[in-house]
This record gives sequence, structure tokens and C-alpha cells, in this order.
Amino acid sequence: MINYDFLKGVRVLGIVCTQWGDTGKGKFVDYFADWADVIARGTGGANAGHTIWVNGEKHVFHLLPSAMLHDKLNVIGSGVALEPGLVLDELTTLDCGGVSTDNLRIAFNARLVLPQHVVLDRVRDASSEEDKIGTTGRGMGPAYADHVARLGLTVNDLLNPDVFRKKLQRNLREKRKVLRTYDPEAVKRVMHQEILKSGSFYSDPESIFNEDAIIERYMEYGRHLEDYICDADAIVRSCFREKRNILLEGAQGNMLSVDYGTHPYVTSSDCSIAGLAKGVGLHEHDVDLTLGIVKGFYMTRVGEGPFPTELGGERSAEACRVQTRDTEAKKYPDASINDPDEFIRGVAIRKLGDEYGATTGRPRRTGWLDLPLIRYSTEQLAGPNVILTKIDVLDTAETIMVCTEYEYVGPPYRRGKDVFSAGRRILTAIPDLEILRYCRPIYEKFPGWLTSTREARSFHDIPDPLRNLIWFLKGQTEVNVTMLSVGPDREDTVFVAEPQKRHI
Ligand code: IMP
Repeated sequence: MINYDFLKGVRVLGIVCTQWGDTGKGKFVDYFADWADVIARGTGGANAGHTIWVNGEKHVFHLLPSAMLHDKLNVIGSGVALEPGLVLDELTTLDCGGVSTDNLRIAFNARLVLPQHVVLDRVRDASSEEDKIGTTGRGMGPAYADHVARLGLTVNDLLNPDVFRKKLQRNLREKRKVLRTYDPEAVKRVMHQEILKSGSFYSDPESIFNEDAIIERYMEYGRHLEDYICDADAIVRSCFREKRNILLEGAQGNMLSVDYGTHPYVTSSDCSIAGLAKGVGLHEHDVDLTLGIVKGFYMTRVGEGPFPTELGGERSAEACRVQTRDTEAKKYPDASINDPDEFIRGVAIRKLGDEYGATTGRPRRTGWLDLPLIRYSTEQLAGPNVILTKIDVLDTAETIMVCTEYEYVGPPYRRGKDVFSAGRRILTAIPDLEILRYCRPIYEKFPGWLTSTREARSFHDIPDPLRNLIWFLKGQTEVNVTMLSVGPDREDTVFVAEPQKRHI
């Protein structure tokens, strides 16, 4: 039994990633699920991925909240972009495993992901190497853009055939115009991918979409989902008024937030705690405690975009564009975390940490912990309380580097009245591409702990070199390390310090 005493007085708890995602939020959503009455997702969509074990079988889920196996209310809030076919597949997996799904509520105003979003996302991202974001290809950007452009459909439209048809036709009129500017063969190829039902929504190069096929399929989705669709945000708000325990499950990470991340290399929702709270009908100020997840002393990033501490720099970024888990395993069977070549060390960390995308299978780029980014992400977004995860991945590293600040090495660049010029030191990251791409990390070097942390259950079990690193992190930033994760299971967790609570 987990002791939740340190959550005394907390009613709304948010779990968000302070980096570029994939820091292990899922484990902590599961960890706190017994405490919660309601678990709610409010951002992102099928671009996220987490592992759920159903009757001993491993499944990667993208849309259903991580705590569906717990007998609690699970909410997909209005801020989520929902691909109905995928959510149905995930529900079917649970049904087949004998798991009840009656505890799910889907917001009627969640954004609806349609075939045109997926095809546009894929064709656009593949059309230019220079402008590539490296998206997950799940239609997130176009679906969220439609919402803001007032062209989007909502989940509730699945229940009203006439409204759906009218809104779909209006949306497709616009999408056809855009898609006709791309190579028709490329559009056709993507429309025949499995994710787009192998061409069943394709018509011809001129109309591109077979409207009737889309309508028929999506109305069927609506019939299957109707019992789940409701005013889910209002349910969360009434739970809030009744002072029930609400756990907010973040997706992606602060540095991928469309509002606060490393634009344009971001996702299209605000995955900070502010966006998460709003995406389930709450306000950021309703959140009593935010726990920001930080990977313990290394970092990862999937897709394109600046990554100052990347091990192996551009060589690593390029390898992650072309390699897969299997090709990498064959090419670097003996990659060592202590190799003199830092690129190889990055490969070794990827293999040790199993850093391959849950959604796309892509290798995640690896690098050292970046304190300027942590300062920005905690001081300005998530707040001080952090959980350090995946500590055990570095158990065999002889040396650990921590980036303490940057040196700007780019051309003169104006930011308002401030002019950045070469040689300037930067302590807190500035999420401006024209600055971040020219930031050279300055490191401090630490000895590794060279012992297994897997069995650690209290802070006394933590080896001295690791303890020193944690003190160093606390001294260099304003973070309050609350817990450590030393393995994938619930038990592989070490409590460090009481969280600082905001409103209590
Ligand atoms: P999108 O969210 O598919 O539009 O992708 C935009 C960027 O966010 C790409 O670099 C993706 O790799 C990244 N991204 C999206 N979701 C995740 C996630 O769950 N973990 C890590 N990176 C993600």
C-alpha cells in the first residue's frame, strides 16, 4: 500500500513532463491512481503513448488515460484531439481482456481527428527536409489548427449525421485546396496507408476524399462511442466542487508546448499544467500540486528541433532519423555507456533506457541533463516539485555530465531591446529557436555511482555520488526533488522530500 500522507490537503494533482516528453509520466499516473477519484487527460491525442498491461499482455495505448484499469472515473477532456477509430480499438482491447470500460467519459467538445488531418500532417511533414518537424503523423497539427481556425469538428458531431456532413463538407473544401498544392501521388500514397484504412477514404486525385465513405465510417464510430460522450469537463468541475481527488495526466512535455516550448518544433497543444487544467475544464489555479517529471541525469527528444546537450550532436540527430531499434541493435551491438565516443555513449543510453518512441518506434535522441531548460521549465511553468525518473539507466556510467549554463555562439540577434552576441552566458533557457540553436552547453563533470539503484527503497539506499548529484541539482536550480524512480514498477520508487504545496 502506498502512503499518500504527503498529499494531505491536495485535491487536484497534476503530473506533467518538464522536458520533451517520454519521461515516465505513466508510471506516476498509475502510482497516484489509488489516491484519485478521477483521472483526466486534457491535451494531445494519439501522439502520446503509454504501456498498459492487460491480463499479462503488453499493449501500447495512445488515447485512453493511463489509469483505465483502475476502478476510477477516467476522463478524456475537451482539450484532447480524439481519433475515434483508435479509441475504439483501445476500448476493444480492454473489453477482450475482460476490463470494464464503463468508467470512461469523453468530452463532447473534444476535437475530432479526421482522415484529412492525418493525410495533411504526413504529406506536409514529408514534403520538405528543411521545414520538417518530425511529427508523429497522427494529425495533431491540422486538427488543432482547425479548432483555432473555426473549421474543426467535435466528438459530439459523431452523433448528428446532418451536422457532421455539413461540417465535414465545409472542412474538406478547404483541405482539398491545400492538398492540391502537394504531389498528387504523395497524397494518394498516404491515403493508402493502413492508418487511413488502406485507401477506403480515397476517391481520386481531384476530390481526394470519398465523403460518403468517411461519413459512413464515422457515424459507425459515433454509434459505438455514444455511451461515453458527455459533458466531461462539467463532470470534472463538479468533482472539483465536491472536493474529490482529481489527478491530471499530462501528455508530451513543457518543451513541446505550442505556447511555451521550442517553437516551431513543438506539438500543437499546450501541454503545460495551464493547458492541461484548461483541457479538462479547470483553471491552472485549481491545481494544488504539480509534480514535474525530469529524467534523472539524461534527456531525450523525438523528432526535429534544437537539443543543446545531444550526445553526438548532428550525428545523433541524423542516426535517429534513419535508424530503427533493430537496425541500431545490429549496427552497435556492443555500444558502451563509457565509450570515449560520445555518440556511442548516446546509443548506449538509448538502448539501456529503451528510448524508442511508443507511438512511432523512432529512436529518441539522447543527451545530458540540461539545467538551463530545467530552470525555465520549472521556474516558469511546472513549479519546483519534481520527480527524477529512470535513475537506474545510468547505473553503469563512469562519468555523468550536467549542463549548468549555455554560451551563445550565434550571430548578433535582437530580442526586443536585448541584443544577444557571441560569448554571452545564458543560465535560463530561452525558448526561441534563433537563440537555442546557437547555445553551446557548458558542463560540469561528475563521477557515476557504478552500483545498482534498482533495489533502493529509501533515500538512505541511494549511493553517495547520486546523492551529490541530487544536491547539486537542488543547489543549481529551485527544484525540490520529491521522489526518485529507480525502475518501471510502482515499488521502484524512493520518497525524498515533502512537496511544496501552492494553495494549502
Ligand atoms: P505531433 O505532436 O505529432 O504534431 O509532433 C510534433 C513534435 O512533438 C514531434 O517532434 C514529435 O516527435 C513530438 N511529440 C509528440 N508527442 C510526443 C510524445 O508523446 N513524446 C515525445 N515527443 C512527442
